[in-house]
Amino acid sequence: MRADQTAAWRNLAEHAKTFSSFDLRTEFARDAGRAAHFSQDAPGVFADLSKNLWNAEIEAQLLALVQQTGVLEHRNRMFQGEAINASENRAVMHWLLRQPAQGAASDALPSAVKASLKEVHDTLNAMLAFAEKIRADKHITDVVNIGIGGSDLGPQMAVMALQSFALKGKRFHFVSNVDGHELDAFLQGLKADNTLFLVASKTFTTIETMTNALSAKRWFEAQGGKNISHHFAALTSNVEAAGKFGIQTCFGFWDWVGGRYSLWSAIGLPLAIAIGADKFREFLAGAHAMDQHFQHAQAAQNLPVRLGLLDVWYRNFLHFTSRCIAPYHSALKRYAPYLQQLEMESNGKQVDPAGHALPYGTSPVLWGEPGTNGQHAFFQMLHQGTDVVPLEFVAVKNATHALPDHQTLLLSNALAQAQALMMGQPDKAGHQNFAGNRPSTFILLEDLSPFNLGALIALQEHRVFVSGAVWGINSFDQWGVELGKVLAKDIHARMLTGEDSGLDASTAQLLKRLKTN
Ligand code: F6P
Repeated sequence: MRADQTAAWRNLAEHAKTFSSFDLRTEFARDAGRAAHFSQDAPGVFADLSKNLWNAEIEAQLLALVQQTGVLEHRNRMFQGEAINASENRAVMHWLLRQPAQGAASDALPSAVKASLKEVHDTLNAMLAFAEKIRADKHITDVVNIGIGGSDLGPQMAVMALQSFALKGKRFHFVSNVDGHELDAFLQGLKADNTLFLVASKTFTTIETMTNALSAKRWFEAQGGKNISHHFAALTSNVEAAGKFGIQTCFGFWDWVGGRYSLWSAIGLPLAIAIGADKFREFLAGAHAMDQHFQHAQAAQNLPVRLGLLDVWYRNFLHFTSRCIAPYHSALKRYAPYLQQLEMESNGKQVDPAGHALPYGTSPVLWGEPGTNGQHAFFQMLHQGTDVVPLEFVAVKNATHALPDHQTLLLSNALAQAQALMMGQPDKAGHQNFAGNRPSTFILLEDLSPFNLGALIALQEHRVFVSGAVWGINSFDQWGVELGKVLAKDIHARMLTGEDSGLDASTAQLLKRLKTN
């Protein structure tokens, strides 16, 4: 049933009316069990959701909403390999990329899915063998990933996050933008003989990636580079197009892996080269542990379910339009951009699977920066601005550096910010007044290890699944990026000729100014 037609939705709307008087400080004073009730362990992570603007009654209604909108049945369909990506008639099986080859759960899969699992492991083994070969090859000092969107954000985020596990002596670069400044700057520091280019593109048609790949190939040949098959590999589900491009070394994946969910596939090759086969398998194991949790934990103790429901409560009932991401670990620098694609490309939709308009809001805006930097930039607005922005902290207990004072200070800041947002300084007047009662979630990892990172990312994937399923949208297509691609082609042709007939006056004027030749 559509979310807003359920009894739970109506009840939540009633509760929301009285929520302006809800105060976190009062709730904590009233209920000694609040922190424990709204906190939980899940594989690889601990999460404290207690500093959020909700209570047990709201939570119960949100859990009823899960029942009434069939979220768990939808989840089960995903894990059975059904074609839940209806607009593209595709299954959604990124979870299969981290499913062990053997075991009771794997044996119980439908036979068609089991056949895919075999292909997954064959490809994984080949890709990890290649990764080990590159790791051992002292001539290759630079690995350049050319890809964009899901073919860039995931591997880039993960390579950076796990840099303390990365092999020394190899540098990793990520070229995504078609802006030639980016590729040009990288190429200037490279030597053809010492470079491996990974052309990462699910479709192998994305104009940015194809343009960058072609320029990289021309540069390689101009430098005297000969052995393309040794210096270029393709990570793609379109092996034929990669072959036509002249790349023989290919690691494939399947149409049932969405671009923004593809980090676990061949698209993860840069990470596998950086951390090695064993650690990459640990990364997959962390994600698999979270898959198991999502599949089997009771809804009330199911962390992706709880986070996804909180997102719905905030978006549709308290009308918060954004969520700020604050990882307190500098290696998580690309975590917020990664989550932006995951959430906003998945759930930034306004129709149901039949194409009917939905009458409620969907994806929030995600944004953020690592702490403590954010504190000296935009936290002012979070504390005293006129809009309430829920904040999601990620803290990592153990550091890998030998500067313990820094780590204590860093973690103290994370904790203090969460406290300050909630407690405020309501007794002070004027510019010293902090109303407080500002919500935050605190996610805690013991270590930023491959296993824990895998679990954290899978947690985020499933949480996006839950809110998308409540909203009744297809979280696995991305038609909203198509129009811009079509128009860019048209404008590109006009940039070459200057033809502006049929354009609006603004676009025509800008075209005239931008045309360089
Ligand atoms: O344009 C959006 C998008 O299709 C993303 O969904 C995807 O991650 C990205 O482009 C890159 O696509 P590809 O991997 O096919 O080059």
